[in-house]
Amino acid sequence: MTSCDLLIRNAKVLDGSGTAPAQLDVAICGERIAEIGPKLACRASETIDADGLALSPGFIDVHTHDDTAVIRTPAMLPKLSQGVTTVIVGNCGISASPVMLRGEPPDPMNLLGDAEAFRYPTFASYIDAIREAHPAINVGALIGHTALRNNHMDRLDRTATKSEINAMRGQLQEALEGGALGLSSGLAYLSANSATTEEVMSLAQPLAAAGAVYTTHMRNETEKILDAMDEAFKIGRMNRVPVVVSHLKCAGIANWGRSAEVLQALETAQRTQSAGCDCYPYAAGSSTLDLRQVDERVKITITWSTPHPEIAGQTLEQIAEGWNVTQLEAAQQLKPAGAIYHSISEEDMRRILSHPATMIGSDGLPNDPRPHPRLWGTFPRVLGRYSREEKLFSLPNAIRKMTGMPAQRFGLAGRGLIRKDYAADLVLFDPETILDTATFSDPISPATGIAAVWVNGVLSYTAKGATRSRAGRFVPRGQTEWIQ
Ligand code: ZN
Ligand code: CU
Repeated sequence: MTSCDLLIRNAKVLDGSGTAPAQLDVAICGERIAEIGPKLACRASETIDADGLALSPGFIDVHTHDDTAVIRTPAMLPKLSQGVTTVIVGNCGISASPVMLRGEPPDPMNLLGDAEAFRYPTFASYIDAIREAHPAINVGALIGHTALRNNHMDRLDRTATKSEINAMRGQLQEALEGGALGLSSGLAYLSANSATTEEVMSLAQPLAAAGAVYTTHMRNETEKILDAMDEAFKIGRMNRVPVVVSHLKCAGIANWGRSAEVLQALETAQRTQSAGCDCYPYAAGSSTLDLRQVDERVKITITWSTPHPEIAGQTLEQIAEGWNVTQLEAAQQLKPAGAIYHSISEEDMRRILSHPATMIGSDGLPNDPRPHPRLWGTFPRVLGRYSREEKLFSLPNAIRKMTGMPAQRFGLAGRGLIRKDYAADLVLFDPETILDTATFSDPISPATGIAAVWVNGVLSYTAKGATRSRAGRFVPRGQTEWIQ
């Protein structure tokens, strides 16, 4: 008879691979899963009877802007309370490191905080800061193209020169050697929009040898989305590097109904290269306020505004009415600001969410005083609303989209599955009651149905709240195989 630290008995085990659940015992020794099987006979210091609850790998949030949150608010409750045990930071071209600022961070780097939040001139200094902060969840990191541009360019409204690209590539290479997962871009934003395809292609060159990925908030998510997808896939193909399209959507009323052709384009790419996407389960997006997205037919809620902090939570329509100006004029006066855009069709979002190439990513914005509800609700919403209630996909499939698949695609070796010797990142939940409670009007609200969350074998959250143990760590890129 062997011994172990924790024995979870009679759990409905969803192992993260997408296969049907099985009633099993799982034994944990230290930070790893020691054994899995029916009626394990090990002597445990602690035994839990899971009795009807589901046990799955901890959820991996592949699309976050938690770069500075994991250091400034290491309890990471918005994520831990959903069962998330790993976040991938540095998406959409913006990362907290390596960053050397002159003045305030450009839009949208300001989503990560003001100048004082950017304290990591090298990737190594960022890793050190994570280690010192002891966040409650694990952190994997991408390097942002816009962050690199801002380090080496005097202005962002032009394409980078050869020598600037070389300097950016040197920093990327150094970060990859330090365990960064890949490169992200945010070509839709004005701070990167002037970068040519060639600039990104040339910068992305070291990714393949490192086994890293390219993720992109594409140049266009509206009329020209297919051109933008072509560009993303070309950058991947030319560099032999997997592509993850960030928060895939058809934005803007004129593009509603185009999700089928967009997914078709993704499938076509998948025949010749590694390609996939992430998606959040809401029919509204959120970012900094972008004048190009102001459309009187679309409901836009202002989440923050530097010149007018008092208006957070009001709609652009209300503000424009109060000021007796057009919505565009109001938006001009509010900037810099944040916004929620109700500019996606529910049907398109469901089709993209259901696609086998799609992983779950929250895209939550932890610094917003009135955040989009995806920050606190994404994962339980996929499981409770879209899998259980709406039956868009099976529960094992939903779990795979947030565990096994992201771990394989981002090189998080030894995580994302319930397997012997894998990290004991686990979540115990009630499949009958798990649900998001965060809403657009009341967005800061933990989900229901989460019974326990373990991070690296340490009990970190229960139905009563966080345990105050913070066992997350920086996770460097490991060797995994991309599976379409
Ligand atoms: Zn984005
Ligand atoms: Cu994002």
